[in-house]
Amino acid sequence: MKNKTIIVSNRLPLNVSLPENEEENEIKILPSVGGLATGMKSIHQNSDSLWIGWSGIATDDIDESTRNKINKAIQQQKCISVDLTQDEVEDFYFGFSNDLLWPLFHYFTEYTHYKDEHWEAYKKVNRKFAEKVLEYLEDGDQVWVHDYQLLLLPQLIKEAKPNVSIGFFLHIPFPSYEIFRVLPKREELLKGMLGSDLIGFHNYDYERHFISSVSRILRYDVNFNTIQVGRRKVKIDSFPMGIDYQKFKEAAIDNTNKSQEEKSQLKVRLEQHLQVSNDAKLILSIDRLDYTKGIAQRLKAFEYFLTKYPQFQEKARLVMLAVPSRENVPQYQRLKREIDELVGRINGKFSTVSWTPVWYFYRSLPFEQLIDLYTSCEIALLTPIRDGMNLVAKEYIASRTDRTGTLILSEMAGAAQEMSEALIINPNDSNQIAEALKVAFEMPEEEQIMRNKFIQKRIKRYDVEKWATEFMKSLEATKDLQKEKK
Ligand code: UDP
Ligand code: G6P
Repeated sequence: MKNKTIIVSNRLPLNVSLPENEEENEIKILPSVGGLATGMKSIHQNSDSLWIGWSGIATDDIDESTRNKINKAIQQQKCISVDLTQDEVEDFYFGFSNDLLWPLFHYFTEYTHYKDEHWEAYKKVNRKFAEKVLEYLEDGDQVWVHDYQLLLLPQLIKEAKPNVSIGFFLHIPFPSYEIFRVLPKREELLKGMLGSDLIGFHNYDYERHFISSVSRILRYDVNFNTIQVGRRKVKIDSFPMGIDYQKFKEAAIDNTNKSQEEKSQLKVRLEQHLQVSNDAKLILSIDRLDYTKGIAQRLKAFEYFLTKYPQFQEKARLVMLAVPSRENVPQYQRLKREIDELVGRINGKFSTVSWTPVWYFYRSLPFEQLIDLYTSCEIALLTPIRDGMNLVAKEYIASRTDRTGTLILSEMAGAAQEMSEALIINPNDSNQIAEALKVAFEMPEEEQIMRNKFIQKRIKRYDVEKWATEFMKSLEATKDLQKEKK
């Protein structure tokens, strides 16, 4: 058999959902949301790879036969599940990963909580993942580990199998040393990552922050982008993650060619708004409901825009999709309440008989309806306070096949580095966002087309396949690097 790549991430590209009542006995398998899963899915489907990860449910209360059914469904998609108990989900996933690492790596230090039992669970679950990887690992295979939930995994695999090539990619920002140093267990986490042969980040800033943390905390020798770890050399590099450009482009073409009868109800309703007047526009916002995404600040900026420029009332509608995420973490629950209130306040304040300023969806939407949104909305307003990349920005531009549309994007999103032709804003500045919305409303179509032409060219060339190939080529090349003497 040909050598394979074992992809490992906490979340599998599919999410299992158990029947909610006695009458329903179907297990549902739904696609996962989030950049890691949506981006890597195309790579996984088209390559000789096996994906190891968690199915999204706690398995301790599940009987043997249901567990077998789940495993069978997962295996049909070339995936293997790592079973987590309810306690592990609480302490490893909601706890150490999402109540400490996630906020800290996104510079939300005030939201971080450290508990010893969360750390114990993090170590235990990383070991569980290592056991699963070792069970499926064969000679000649390589391992590609993803993201902050599995920072200890590379070292655990390397200790058991020193000759296996291990790549690691971080999908979120790596914070500056001054933030990272705050973290309890910082040495262990860095050493865990350094079990890899290649460590990849979305951009050079994150790469630089990591190297500086390693040299200041561990005092390891660093030579340009190579770190000496005992007798091994570990390479650090940046690889901005792309999207499956062709998939979005083709779906958008199909979408815009649909006859009136073939259009979804959502699409029809969106188009109705545009018929209000020649200059009516839809403003799109799509994120997981996460405090890093700046959703509350965005709503306030939209409110400010409607107040400062009342001529856009009745003409502007914010279509806001917020996908439920990590609902057991208190910070996410508070944010949900804040957003509900803000939407209520704005709609209460400005609505007329024929116009509601914010259309708010709190759910995930199937791919076809995401395309409805991308193709119908002439403005996209994406204002994360911090974001490793933000693939939605790239998906929006790829779906604008006639090249019209204006992207307003936060400078704090990794994607902004590749999209300088967008209207780049500071997400904390309501006034700047309101001004950008006005510019977007008034931007001539030729200018929109010119700006998007450049961005499309770039993101088409460096798509997700190119990203994965470059990473794998670089991992291959590190084998030669390791042969060199210190
Ligand atoms: N997405 C999805 N269903 C939805 C909304 C979003 O599959 O209902 C996808 C979206 O297409 C994108 C991903 O979720 O690929 C979000 O990735 P991004 O990098 O923007 O943010 P993340 O959630 O990873 O922080
Ligand atoms: C981001 C993270 C991923 C994570 C995704 C969804 O993209 O980088 O690792 O899978 O969000 O979050 P969840 O907690 O639902 O897996």
